[in-house]
Amino acid sequence: MTADRHTSRREFVRGLLAAAISTSVPLRLPAAEQPALEAVAADKGILFGSCLGAVRMADPHYLDILRRECSVLVPENEFKSYVIAAEPGRYNFAPGERIAGFAKSSGMKLRGHTLLWNRPEFMPQWLRDSFGALSARSGEAYLRKYIRHVCRHFGAQVHSWDVVNETIDPQTGQVRDTPFTRVLGFDVLRIAYEAAREYAPHAQLVYNDYMSWEAGQAETHRAGVLRLLERFRRNRIPVDALGIQSHLGNDGNIHAAQRREWTAFVDEAVGMGYRLLITEFDVSDRDLPADIDARDAEVAAVAREYLDLMLSYRELDQVLCWGMVDKYSWLQQFRPRADNKPQRPNPYDDAYEPKRLREAIAAAFASAPRR
Ligand code: XIL
Repeated sequence: MTADRHTSRREFVRGLLAAAISTSVPLRLPAAEQPALEAVAADKGILFGSCLGAVRMADPHYLDILRRECSVLVPENEFKSYVIAAEPGRYNFAPGERIAGFAKSSGMKLRGHTLLWNRPEFMPQWLRDSFGALSARSGEAYLRKYIRHVCRHFGAQVHSWDVVNETIDPQTGQVRDTPFTRVLGFDVLRIAYEAAREYAPHAQLVYNDYMSWEAGQAETHRAGVLRLLERFRRNRIPVDALGIQSHLGNDGNIHAAQRREWTAFVDEAVGMGYRLLITEFDVSDRDLPADIDARDAEVAAVAREYLDLMLSYRELDQVLCWGMVDKYSWLQQFRPRADNKPQRPNPYDDAYEPKRLREAIAAAFASAPRR
């Protein structure tokens, strides 16, 4: 991202806002002429972006949207160990390199996701089968070597790493039982962050998880994550920020914003000195009625309420969507609607037209305090 691009975008946004205020005419411009989301966000000191899966790189319309709207990308799957270490004894960096190359040539920053997704189902099969037989010493050596290779390969281009992803079990609030913890215990987390600090010294180191403001299980999840964050601090484990995935709308009750408890959770994280990121924002409409206008309106309203609250924290300075166009959302496979209609969880529809969700995101940035 060059300073020029940002400066001129920023002036453009200010000009548009000034024009809208002076004439009191609402902004209704075609998508391509609206100020880019990244520009509205940059005006407040926030990076805006999205994930990108390598398979989507065959779609030029999609890449246009990313180039226009985003200043940061994160590979959707290509930096995960089930891609990089799919086979023992060999690193497969090619899919990740394609995304890193696109980010670089488009002047976008790059986040890394993730060095240790500490859930057995997301580890390569061979690793899941063989890790348990290792001694603690060889287990540590394996993990450090993996992190060294990945961090060095992508180098300083990755300004922020989700070092560990989803290590708290939402049912118990405890660190998940995985092949890694069976060999190394809690130490696996210390080793991961210390290795990341050593081999990616320039990068922000993030703990990323999906605890949410929704009702039910989320309370145990949130309490477990807070205990983990405290433990990181107590043990001087180098973690800079909490990544809040922000997959909204998954508890079957999209209105169940537990505002007070959620704010208490975020306050505690911030009070321990963590910065904040929204790393995987989307709004599932799985449990909303089929009518598209009603769904889009509800999704936008939930997004606006959530983003307004989150953006009130000046510690939050990166917001990434988990995809920008509905048809490519992971939710189509992972959380299909009962009526089999496609979900509409992202800012653009399948004809690459911006939706009310995009407006809500832009409006939330526009009214956020500067950081
Ligand atoms: C998802 C991807 O979107 C899918 O393509 C893949 O099959 C599974 O992983 N939390 C995370 C992300 O941290 O890595 C997940 O991404 C979505 C939930």
